[in-house]
Amino acid sequence: MQYQATNSTSIAEIPADCLVVPVWKDGGLGDTSETLAGALGGALSAIVGSDDYTWETTDDQQLLHDPAGCAAERVLLVGAGERGKLGRREAAKFLGEALKTVLSRNMPHVHFAVEDLAVNDIGIDWLAARLAQEAETAAYRYVATKTDTKRKAVLERLSIRATKENLRDVMLQGKAVGQGVNRARELGNLPANICTPTHLANHARELANNHPAIDVEVIDEARMKELGMGCFLSVTAGSIEAAYLIVLHYRGADEDDKPVCLVGKGVTFDSGGISIKPSAAMDEMKFDMCGAAAVLGTMSAIAELKMPVNVVGLVAASENMPSDRATKPGDIVTSMSGKTVEILNTDAEGRLLLCDALTYAERFEPTYVIDIATLTGAAIAAFGNEANVVMGNDQPLMDRLLQCGHDCLDRAWQLPLWTEYQKQLDSNFADVANIGGKRAGSITAGCFLSRFTEKFKWAHLDIAGSAWLSDGAAKGATGRPVALLTEFLSTVAQARH
Ligand code: BES
Ligand code: ZN
Ligand code: MN
Repeated sequence: MQYQATNSTSIAEIPADCLVVPVWKDGGLGDTSETLAGALGGALSAIVGSDDYTWETTDDQQLLHDPAGCAAERVLLVGAGERGKLGRREAAKFLGEALKTVLSRNMPHVHFAVEDLAVNDIGIDWLAARLAQEAETAAYRYVATKTDTKRKAVLERLSIRATKENLRDVMLQGKAVGQGVNRARELGNLPANICTPTHLANHARELANNHPAIDVEVIDEARMKELGMGCFLSVTAGSIEAAYLIVLHYRGADEDDKPVCLVGKGVTFDSGGISIKPSAAMDEMKFDMCGAAAVLGTMSAIAELKMPVNVVGLVAASENMPSDRATKPGDIVTSMSGKTVEILNTDAEGRLLLCDALTYAERFEPTYVIDIATLTGAAIAAFGNEANVVMGNDQPLMDRLLQCGHDCLDRAWQLPLWTEYQKQLDSNFADVANIGGKRAGSITAGCFLSRFTEKFKWAHLDIAGSAWLSDGAAKGATGRPVALLTEFLSTVAQARH
């Protein structure tokens, strides 16, 4: 997709295939759209003034063909609701729904009158970036394993009015985020027989080849053994696929700037192991590497943005399978930290990968460590698909993540890691058990991780609910929380320069 900020003086003179115009609930128009209404000599005003539409939601749309008085071929009117109530969420919905219409039709060049949405606390920069981000994600189609790839979207070019300098650069920032989100979605959507730990390692190598600021190092099982990663290795024990800890370095700041570490759970298929899962919806466990996908998507986005920050991405990639060599309930292993772990349930495998990856992260002396994991079904029970669940040991870090999530609409909500919950992890036979009781499952998973994060400021994002949707046509990976992580890293970069 190409992005343009045009200097054209009047919207009526833009020779696009379609102009997208927001209409407020009372039929009112923004300044730019008013000029267009003037140029069209009554045709537009007649529609918005009629009682045929409420313009309350984006479902209210009208497409005018060949309107006399403007250079564009079409004008698409879209309901924007009440002017006073337009917030970022509503604006993003407007852009996404308008793009859906545009993508379903034959319009290579579409111009958006986004400046008319710059009301309340919504700025033009945010709108320009968001338009590009929404355009990238709206145009995404999963085709990798389909022979009937359907009609490709014809949308090629999106323009907005250059109401200030560098607005195109701002659009390109949104584009980078959208492409990072799509990268995560694609990796998530690929089936487990294609998206193996080896595939993730190759994908990381490809990222490093395409971006000079990214280096990659792949730690194999032999090396993990030397490092003492008994927990990590216990997860891959039953699988025929090789497991890897993939280490990506993005160097965007000074060499001595300490990095942020992102640690992603990359279970490419979670059968549960010997504590095997029931078969209903087990296919969805191909999505159990969405934390890893988010790390890779974020690394690509920040590299594309040339963000001035140092980031180490750790991708803990393994299958979780039953076999005669698989870890058994009751087995005790020693983590890289030296703590022993009683594996009471082999389906609580994500935390076993993560605990060793977190210990490995210590060597980078990170300013912050954020792990991202589809860790617990309990997170879905509590929040459905809406929230990234955040926990951690540093309240300012969590406040910042909550704020970033709010700003970029990839929202998070915090759960407590009170010491009272830690007791659930007591074991008679090891330093810690890998599961708690029946209750507070997301929290006890967080508690387990907290035992391995004493040396740095740490936040845990449980994305079991946010990372994919399960139903119907929408079934698939969402690419969350790439937007949140990219937003967070941009605040880290800003704070430094
Ligand atoms: N990958 C799952 C978590 C999960 C389950 C995500 C369902 C999305 C949907 C994780 O490895 C897991 O199996 N967790 C167990 C932990 C339990 C055994 C303590 C869970 O949540 O049931
Ligand atoms: Zn899992
Ligand atoms: Mn599991």
